[in-house]
This record gives sequence, structure tokens and C-alpha cells, in this order.
Amino acid sequence: MTDLASVDYFSDGEVAQSPFEYFDQLRDRSPVYREPHYGVVVVTGHQEVVEAFKNSDALSAVNSIGGPFPPLPFVPEGDDITEQIEAHRHQFPIFEHLVTMDPPDHTKARALLGRLLTPKRLKENEEYLWTLANEQLDEFMDNGRCEFLGEYAKPFATLAIADLLGVPQEDRDEFRRALGADARPGARVGALDGEPVGINPLEYLDDRFSGYLTERRREPRGDILSGLATATYPDGSIPEIIEVVRPATFLFAAGQETVTKLLSSALRVLGERPEYQKILREDRSLIRPFIEESLRFDSPTKVDFRLARKTTTIGDVDIPAGTVVMLSLAAANRDPRKFEDPNEFRFDRPNAHDHIAFGRGLHTCAGAPLARIEGQITLNRLLDRMSEIRLSETEHGPATDRRYTYEPTFLLRGLTELHIEFTPSN
Ligand code: HEM
Repeated sequence: MTDLASVDYFSDGEVAQSPFEYFDQLRDRSPVYREPHYGVVVVTGHQEVVEAFKNSDALSAVNSIGGPFPPLPFVPEGDDITEQIEAHRHQFPIFEHLVTMDPPDHTKARALLGRLLTPKRLKENEEYLWTLANEQLDEFMDNGRCEFLGEYAKPFATLAIADLLGVPQEDRDEFRRALGADARPGARVGALDGEPVGINPLEYLDDRFSGYLTERRREPRGDILSGLATATYPDGSIPEIIEVVRPATFLFAAGQETVTKLLSSALRVLGERPEYQKILREDRSLIRPFIEESLRFDSPTKVDFRLARKTTTIGDVDIPAGTVVMLSLAAANRDPRKFEDPNEFRFDRPNAHDHIAFGRGLHTCAGAPLARIEGQITLNRLLDRMSEIRLSETEHGPATDRRYTYEPTFLLRGLTELHIEFTPSN
């Protein structure tokens, strides 16, 4: 057997396609293991990942997205590098967004997000998603086939967030194009009308939302954006416009790719196992555990990172301050000490819900309820409108020898394309 533990996880193309054997080999050595290339401590055990997520006192989220890239902008000194982190925070990727913040800033920003994602707003959004799912399906239903990511999952995930935030209907097509979620013939993805070159999606979102919110602060209109524009911190103070824009726009970054990956991995299993289509069609209540098992089985966020700001331990391993720690959600979700036969997809697992695809602790995914609902609504609508779903043999090979390509990234796990054929139901 190849010694995968010596492979460079961050650049190896094969491990990116099929990471589970790599994680298994590391876990067999130790669920908390220092890899040889960057000295990153990789945590692959379920219990150990949960423990680390909850240890926010010693583990900072400042590097949660980039991990060892770029390298630390300072040389760590001593057993507590909190001051060094704060002095250099602005040099870390997306330092201005929630997911890299630590308390007390994180607490404040997360509270503001809570004011944007109220239970009432989520409920209204859910109602709209049933219609949105139908509208997306209408775009290709008559063809009897589709490339599911481009034609359904990306636009659905993008428009779900656009609706949640109250983006006006007339601007939504532009959002789709700007955020690369429009595969319709003639759409110029990433370029807007009258603009010859592509745009930076995050800049586009910041500009758009700054515009919306400034306008509505001046003149509230009683719409959702006006609600965002007038949201206050729990202590009653009024945030700067940019402090509202950032959590709002970050929702697109956090919820578009991840949900696309969840929807496509769930549908891949349904396409491979026609008997599951029958079971779910007959008992729709099983869709919920099916989505949970999809999250466990192919966790869209493969890994998250932390930086030890104080010398600490994970499991029984010492972690000096300054260590980059990689928490592998994908590996934890296939830890045989937690899940029986972890490499089998079983949606009747009694503990499927113990997966940690949404992380744990302070930074637990703020969009988890929405992601779950998007999954459940999508499968319901696919089963309503397609009497038989098949994977395209031309694109993915015959049932005995399927071919899939996953995105070549160390952070996320998701198919690049999923081609299906189906019989429309009447
Ligand atoms: C299947 C889909 C999704 C997965 C697997 C996922 C996964 C995660 C994970 C693992 C984290 C924790 C990151 C960390 O601890 O470093 C996270 C954070 C976050 N997610 Fe999600 N997410 C999904 C969908 C969404 C959606 C739809 C939204 C918003 C509409 C969203 C918004 C956020 C936000 C705002 C955070 C940062 C929370 C914080 O730092 O306090 N996510 N997500």
C-alpha cells in the first residue's frame, strides 16, 4: 500500500480526487498527526476535531480559510501569541469576515448576523424556495437531461441567498451572471451588460450591497433591505454600513459553493442507487436523514484551520503556540470509532446527525438551517418532477465503472459536473 501519510495534501492531485484513504492512513498513525511538508497538525478523529473546535480560547480562527497559506507573517514567540496575531491580523486572508474573527469582534458580528437571519425571514425564504426550485427545473425540464451543477444547483443556491437578503427581483439575473450562476444560453457569466471583462464577485457584492443599504438608510422602504440597513447591535448602537455589508455578502461566499456541493453529492447517490429513489419517493420523511447522511458521507467543507494562539493539547498531543492546525471534517465524519462502516452510505444510521459537516463551537455554520432546507426542498422537487433519474453514461461511464471529477482544492469537496438524464413526470 502506498504510504500516503508522506504525500503533500495541499498540492497532490490524486489526494484531492480521493482524500479518504489519505485521511484514514493519517488517523491510523494518530488522529492528531503532524504532516511533514508544512508542519501542519492534521486532526482526523471525530472526538479530537470536536474538542479542537470547542477550544476557541487556545485556537484562533484567524487562518480558518488559508491554513498554512500564506505562511505566518511573523515568527511565533512564547506560549501565547495573541498579541502577535492581533498585530498582524490584517495580513490574513479575508480577515474582515466573520469566519476568521475571534471574540470579542466575532461575538459582535455574529450577533448582527443573527439580526439579519431571523426565524421569520428564514420561514419566508423557505416558502419562496419551493417556487424557486420549480422555476429552476422549468429551465431545462423539457430537455430530459441537464448538467446539474450549472443548470440547477449554482443558480438555486445563489438565488436562495439573494432572496434571503431581499435583493430586488429585477436585479437577480444580474446577480446570477456576476456570481457565475447562469448557464442559460446567451448568458455572459462573470460579465455584466456593457462591461467587456469579468468582475470580482466579492467586490461586486460589496458595491451592490453598499449601494442598497446607503439608499435605504436615507429612505427606508419597508422591504428586507431596509430591515438590514436599520439593524442595530444588541447594545443598540448603529453599525457602519460596511459592518452590515460584510456579513451579508459573506453569505454568498459561504453558501453558494457549499450548497452546490451538497446538492450534487446527494443527487449522485440517488442516480447511482435507483432503489433509493423509490424508497424516498414513497416516504418523503426519509429525505431529511438522506441529506444528513450526504453531509456526513461527502462533507462539502473538507477541512477548516485554526492557529494555536496558546500552547495547548488536542487529544493527548502537545500543540505549541504558533502551530497551524487542520481540522478535517471529512475525516472526522468517516471516523470508524464514531460511525460504523463509515465508507458506506446508509441513511438509516442512528447517529448520522452526529456528523460535523457544519463545524462546531463559536463558528458553527450560520447557514446550516438554510442549507438543510435547500437540500430537502431540492430532493422533494426532483422526485416530484422526475419519474426516473439516471446518471449520464456518456459523461460518467456505466454503472460498473463510473467516472467523476472533483474540484482540485484542499478546502472543499465537490464534483465539477454531474450530468443526469430523467423522465419528466406528468
Ligand atoms: C452544505 C452547505 C454548507 C456547509 C457544509 C457549510 C459549512 C460551514 C462550516 C464547516 C463552517 C465553520 C467554519 C469554521 O469553523 O472555521 C461554516 C461557517 C459559516 N457558514 Fe456555512 N456551510 C454551508 C452553507 C452555508 C450557507 C447556506 C450559509 C449562509 C446562507 C452559510 C453561512 C456561514 C457563515 C456566515 C459562517 C461563519 C460563521 C462564523 O464564523 O461564526 N453556510 N459553514
